Amino acid sequence: MKKITVKHIKSKKGWGKISMLTCYDYSFAGILDSSGVDIILVGDSLANVVLGLDKTNTVSVAEMLNHTQAVAKAVKHSLVVTDMPYLAYQKEPAKALSFAKKFILKGAEAVKIEWFSQCKSVIKRLVKNNIPVMGHIGLTPQTAHLLGGYKVQGRSPEAAKKLIDQAKIIEDLGAFSLVLECLPYQLSQRISKAVRIPTIGIGAGKYCDGQVLVSYDFLGLYSKKKLKFTRVYCDLSSQIKTATKLFIKDVKKGKFPSQSESF
Ligand code: KIV
Repeated sequence: MKKITVKHIKSKKGWGKISMLTCYDYSFAGILDSSGVDIILVGDSLANVVLGLDKTNTVSVAEMLNHTQAVAKAVKHSLVVTDMPYLAYQKEPAKALSFAKKFILKGAEAVKIEWFSQCKSVIKRLVKNNIPVMGHIGLTPQTAHLLGGYKVQGRSPEAAKKLIDQAKIIEDLGAFSLVLECLPYQLSQRISKAVRIPTIGIGAGKYCDGQVLVSYDFLGLYSKKKLKFTRVYCDLSSQIKTATKLFIKDVKKGKFPSQSESF
């Protein structure tokens, strides 16, 4: 399999062409990468599904750097993108470039930036310094408190226009792709037609250039929240429980380890 580059993703404009999954560690990254997913996102959903935190904006830069390094070590084919955590740029926009450079040094090939009041200067600065940027509009979890919570965005004509404008601004600033989160599908279609960079949807319907899912959701590993827009492709939680019970039984019955599993 050929290595996927930012240039390659940019050229994949067209309905349903890009697959992206989140990932946080070395072992999972190796599996997703060898399965052929285009982009592996070290998402700040790490906060929820791995660290058990309620909000993504509390995950630290150090935690995201560690997990970026672990994922990047395993990846040979997919493009590795890291979410810039809230604490790395929304708290201190002036420091965004130095933090982004740290992520690149750990193996990220691009960073994702959620829309916020000062995101224009941040994106401009990163792009000027040759750091590829993926934008993110719609429901932006890092600032969900400013959007009325975890809700579908862009339902009114005014809100829809605002989002179309944001998409165009992000494109003009030089981002190479754009995540659309929790939007009515008709609006995602309008945005996807309005920009030349590929759009990648989550809860944004099928008329995007690609789709992204949180890996713990699509593998059935995270059951805290049932989300309308995710599809559970397998039930790893049940499989892990079954395996764990079998192990406990074998230990209790003296069936593990066997002679051949002993020195
Ligand atoms: O962190 C994450 O999982 C994300 C996806 C929802 C796109 O940003």
